[in-house]
Amino acid sequence: MTNSRISGFYNLTLDERRAKLADDSNLTPEDLLPWITGGLSAEAADHMIENVVGMHALPLGIGLNFMVNGKDVLVPFAIEEPSVVAGASFMAKLARAGGGFHATTSEPQMIGQIQVINVANLNEARLKLYERKAELLATADAIDPILKKFGGGARDLEVRVFEDSPIGGFLVIHLIYDVRDAMGANAVNTACEKLAPQIEAITNGKVHLRILSNLADRRIARARCTIPVNELTMGFESFKGETVRDGIIAAWAFAATDPYRAATHNKGIMNGVDAVVIATGNDWRAIEAGAHAYAARSGKYTSLSTWNKDKDGSLVGTLEMPMAVGIVGGATKVHPAAQAAVKLMGVKTASELAEIIVSVGLAQNMAALRALATEGIQRGHMSLHARQVAVAAGASGELIEKVAAQMVAEKVVRVDRAEEILKGMRT
Ligand code: MEV
Repeated sequence: MTNSRISGFYNLTLDERRAKLADDSNLTPEDLLPWITGGLSAEAADHMIENVVGMHALPLGIGLNFMVNGKDVLVPFAIEEPSVVAGASFMAKLARAGGGFHATTSEPQMIGQIQVINVANLNEARLKLYERKAELLATADAIDPILKKFGGGARDLEVRVFEDSPIGGFLVIHLIYDVRDAMGANAVNTACEKLAPQIEAITNGKVHLRILSNLADRRIARARCTIPVNELTMGFESFKGETVRDGIIAAWAFAATDPYRAATHNKGIMNGVDAVVIATGNDWRAIEAGAHAYAARSGKYTSLSTWNKDKDGSLVGTLEMPMAVGIVGGATKVHPAAQAAVKLMGVKTASELAEIIVSVGLAQNMAALRALATEGIQRGHMSLHARQVAVAAGASGELIEKVAAQMVAEKVVRVDRAEEILKGMRT
């Protein structure tokens, strides 16, 4: 069983971290190879997109301390931004004291959209489509026998009427499709295209677009965590837990009220979400599109998360968002680094992966709000940078923190100063 609490991981060398990961997870040293080489050969890349000339790499770091639904999980992050992995790992540590993250998902249902134009009587056509719903669903259901074997397939059909548009009225049919462990775009697009002739015959209209919607609001992942108020002072001894808690709640209220702040607040959530989505070879543009459209579903763009306190005074965070990720197709299947990421987390279904990702998003949001609501974001960045400089100057063990803290206090973060401080501490 994975233990996500690997102490001192940060201070190890790259090789030591890899060895530790192979010891403490279900990955073998061979499984780690794709993360050493980048995982993709130029030949494999040439089969993935057009006009390939090479590869573009990102750092791959491990998020620690995560416990999701009572299970420890080591989380792979593919991201270029400093502080994200450290921030999420630290918040996951605080969340453990309250039982970790509790996460659920809805059924993995995606929506396919079929636009029908040139319809003489929109409402009549709408009702005719409902009358023939069973046969339409049967056609859509038959397109993917494998998906069907695993319990997926067509679930429902909804017809929407748009009376006024720049081209006049048209119909939009929503095909609701259970895609199980796939992201689902292929199955849904195929099903929508397959339905077109039947729909034209029923409506006497012309089928125009047939495409998946990225507003996957029937495929929602939800996470919540409870942080006992005394935990909120950890590493922040100059702040009272209540001050940190109330500061986080006030920061969330800002995002809940103001779209300008909500965009940045949600960007912080996506720092964590996208990093895991990318590490697992999933389509992060689809996740981004779904997240922001969902955040604006009331007509006003707002925060995807909520932060409040419970009757014991603990901080309670929640996050709900669309999570159209898969584990069986696309780059997830062909990219060896993505395969290692899926194996590391031990996920057997797309829903389990979605539950981890939404938990990471919540941890990341809290990391940002905690910093913003107290000492500001720059000091955190500076401390991380200072620790790197301290290590570069030769500090190890406890001295890393001490040297880093002094440089931050002096607001001079340079290797030459770190060397001087280190010398002073050793004599
Ligand atoms: C930076 O990448 C993310 C933050 O701006 C998020 C936020 O402001 O909540 C720190």
